[in-house]
Amino acid sequence: MATAIIYWSGTGNTEAMAQAIEEGLGSKGAEVEVFSVDEAPGDLLDNYERFAFGCPSMGDEVLEEDEFEPFFSKIEGGLAGKKVALFGSYGWGNGEWMDDWRARTEAAGALVFEEGLIQQEAPDAALCRSFGERFADF
Ligand SMILES: Cc1cc2nc3c(=O)[nH]c(=O)nc-3n(C[C@H](O)[C@H](O)[C@H](O)COP(=O)(O)O)c2cc1C
Repeated sequence: MATAIIYWSGTGNTEAMAQAIEEGLGSKGAEVEVFSVDEAPGDLLDNYERFAFGCPSMGDEVLEEDEFEPFFSKIEGGLAGKKVALFGSYGWGNGEWMDDWRARTEAAGALVFEEGLIQQEAPDAALCRSFGERFADF
């Protein structure tokens, strides 16, 4: 089964991370599909073996609240035992949103890859690609 990458991005930084992670996974021969959160299929959990979720730090160190948070709260109950990578861009903070998000995803029983990947504003594409390559072997 394939890997699904689902992201929210306001100004394109997390979207650029999603694209580079897709390239990394693809370079390892993984079958990958990328969706922005508003176009994610409803039956995601049944149809993919690996998930990479991307969302920047928004509000005050939280996930984006209008689209991504509702999406993630709906899906998280089904993540037990699934391989999950988390990623996102941030601005001025210290990555607290990612620490909270990782703890939450682990509490849901998911197998969370590494520590997640955070990038300040515009991402380093090579770093994101290699994250994707390593996730392909997870
Ligand atoms: C409404 C709003 C709230 C934000 N809150 C935070 C924050 O709490 N901590 C932080 O580090 N960056 C924060 N940022 C900065 C974004 O995380 C940063 O610009 C990021 O690169 C945006 O990613 P995107 O291009 O994928 O939307 C905020 C940005 C906006 C627009």
